Amino acid sequence: MIDLRTDTITQPTAAMRRAIAEAVVGDEQKREDPTVIALEERGAELLGHEEAVFVPTATMANQIALRTLTEPGDEVIADGAAHVFRYELGGPAVHSGLVMKSLETEDGRFTAVQVREAVSESGDLHMAPTRLVCVENTHNGGGGRVWPLGQVREVTTEARSHGLATHLDGARLLNAVVAGGVPAAEYGREFDTVSLCLSKGLGCPLGALIAGSQERMAKARRLKHLFGGAMRQAGIVASAGLHALDHHVERLADDHANARRLAEGLVEAGMPVDLEQVETNFVLLDVGALGLGADDAVTRLRAGGILLSYATRADVLRAVTHLDVSAQDVERAIELVPRALTGSPVSELAGPAPTPY
Ligand SMILES: Cc1ncc(COP(=O)(O)O)c(C=O)c1O
Repeated sequence: MIDLRTDTITQPTAAMRRAIAEAVVGDEQKREDPTVIALEERGAELLGHEEAVFVPTATMANQIALRTLTEPGDEVIADGAAHVFRYELGGPAVHSGLVMKSLETEDGRFTAVQVREAVSESGDLHMAPTRLVCVENTHNGGGGRVWPLGQVREVTTEARSHGLATHLDGARLLNAVVAGGVPAAEYGREFDTVSLCLSKGLGCPLGALIAGSQERMAKARRLKHLFGGAMRQAGIVASAGLHALDHHVERLADDHANARRLAEGLVEAGMPVDLEQVETNFVLLDVGALGLGADDAVTRLRAGGILLSYATRADVLRAVTHLDVSAQDVERAIELVPRALTGSPVSELAGPAPTPY
């Protein structure tokens, strides 16, 4: 089975497992774990901020950031398919009492004008005051799209002109960095807080970082503890993070090259893939254009030996390349996908319907 559902399914490499086994650890909650401290220092520098905090997941990093930057009753603006809005269980409402105002975009990237038009009138006593703008880079729902630094600056400048705070969901920021050549700190400095996930393209078993000013990170650390994320010998996993920052960043270019090759091979085989969408490690496959529903297509692909997952848009599937997908897997996928999608009716395929996530 070739598993292209997502980049969160990677196994730690043998070298990463060695780094984990050899980690020097301490009680992280007491700030006595040297490996966590080293990762936090490294993360702060990488992301262009004074301080970083190590947390178990990117969801927690985002939710802590939102709570750090807002008060209950505030309004937060993001793209409608942003992970913070769509895939974090309504966390902004539950954890921080926020009102969510979504912007409509093609691919997750919005403009300064959209921000300007979305900001609530200041001084209107009946409206939730707009307080925060969230950008996601790369944008998962948009198909792994990279925000150009210029567009980020227009949006953050507009946000600041209204007195708004800014958060970057950089779960896959290093994919954007490797694809576009803009240093992570250049992106990071545009925002009040930045999150980075270690368990996606970077291949760690778990972990994420949130970065910002010392003052904000003091608050973030308190919230981390409040949310139950203050750990003990967490250097065991932080060591994987340090290993990944040393060894798994530049290789993201391989994932991007594999995604590009997959997309081009599928287009040559007559599959509905928009090559312009493929900027990083995501390939969107418009199975609706083949007259198939997403469920049918996923079932056919599984029967044909390949796993894809649902994308945000209806009847579009997503193939994601990662550390455990080789160039040979991609060549095989280029053969298997068209065969599975243009073969026999789905009712004749064996096996139960798969769970795509
Ligand atoms: C853009 C983005 N942000 C945050 C997250 C949350 O990561 P996790 O589910 O590991 O907490 C994800 C996960 O897919 C994501 O794609």
